[in-house]
Amino acid sequence: MSTHEITLTVDGSERTATVEPRTLLVHVLREHLDNTAPKVGCESGKCGACTVQLDGEPVKSCLVLGVQADGTSILTAAGLADGDLHPIQEAFREEHGLQCGYCTPGLVMSTLDLLEKHQELSREEIRAELKGNICRCTGYQNVVEAVETAAKTLDTERSD
Ligand code: FES
Ligand code: FES
Repeated sequence: MSTHEITLTVDGSERTATVEPRTLLVHVLREHLDNTAPKVGCESGKCGACTVQLDGEPVKSCLVLGVQADGTSILTAAGLADGDLHPIQEAFREEHGLQCGYCTPGLVMSTLDLLEKHQELSREEIRAELKGNICRCTGYQNVVEAVETAAKTLDTERSD
């Protein structure tokens, strides 16, 4: 099979990989670039475990080919922490919004998009907005509480 060299900016660093045309972005990140923040669940766009931002928009990286992402900028949950945990990551920790943690990087990235686009959300709206991220462990209650806590922290940071 032919291969292609692609260049991505991943969590702020320019990275190059030589990939087959069929290689999914999630596999480029995990297997070629050693970034295991996005997880592989369903590989069919249903679970959200592989969610990353591509040029500032959330995508399920199992639905994007690596070659399609050539030249783009990818942000993963691994790129959010800057010495300290990002407020969203901290909120998931504080509120026990995870158990096994497999879904968490995807939920964190979906929450990032949610809180970038909305400042006030009801619990029902949070649940509706995160419906593309499936968690087998938490029952979602603590996830919703983590999103509410993160929203408050980010709101306070914005007004400081
Ligand atoms: S692995 Fe991508 S949505 Fe499930
Ligand atoms: S914490 Fe285990 S799948 Fe969500």
